[in-house]
Amino acid sequence: MDKEKIIQQTQEYIEGKFSGEGTGHDWWHIYRVWTMAIHIANKEKVDLFIVELGALLHDIADHKFHGGDHSVGPEEARKWLSSVGADEDTIQKVCHIVEHASFKGSGSKSKMESLEGKIVQDADRLDAIGAIGIARAFAYGGSLGRPLHDNDNKKDSTVNHFYEKLLKVKDLMNTKTGKEIAEERHQYLEEYLKRFLVEWEGVGKIKD
Ligand code: ADP
Ligand code: NI
Repeated sequence: MDKEKIIQQTQEYIEGKFSGEGTGHDWWHIYRVWTMAIHIANKEKVDLFIVELGALLHDIADHKFHGGDHSVGPEEARKWLSSVGADEDTIQKVCHIVEHASFKGSGSKSKMESLEGKIVQDADRLDAIGAIGIARAFAYGGSLGRPLHDNDNKKDSTVNHFYEKLLKVKDLMNTKTGKEIAEERHQYLEEYLKRFLVEWEGVGKIKD
């Protein structure tokens, strides 16, 4: 098993598959999760090969696009990994990550068991907050035809998604490194929201 080659082939495969995707699951999301996962993993005692494959493959078949079917992702990951000659142990560990990686909000308790998977989960969640997270939320909301915001928060709006999910992300972090980065990005989210709500009325300014 040539690990370096498997990573390289997986990167090329995923880059091809995700290029130009417009709902926040484009290649650059995967790329950021990959590099962030490596960054976090470097501070932990883990199998970097599993972390990298987990990150690259974590959204391979997002359940949202498969009618809520959570088995499609691991199946696709298994097919891919055996086609590039990964061993069964690797396949099982990576499939576990793919199965539990999707961001299901704050309500559901994570079943991610391996530290490698927890790192991928942190990296994935970090991409939902901060400046990139804001951009992804509005892109995703737009793709569903949702309003940016509505004053009484009755309809599903993207600003509503901030309160329902994004502002809760920092408390879901698994690793110390993830927590530190999340704290900083969370602060930015709060500042952004404050400014957004002031400007929403048209004439508002933060400072007069
Ligand atoms: P992941 O990359 O972890 O699989 P999701 O598929 O849950 O993430 O979401 C992808 C991106 O879309 C995230 O940035 C998330 O905040 C955003 N998103 C998900 N649901 C909504 C929503 N209802 N409104 C706005 N943004 C959303
Ligand atoms: Ni993702």
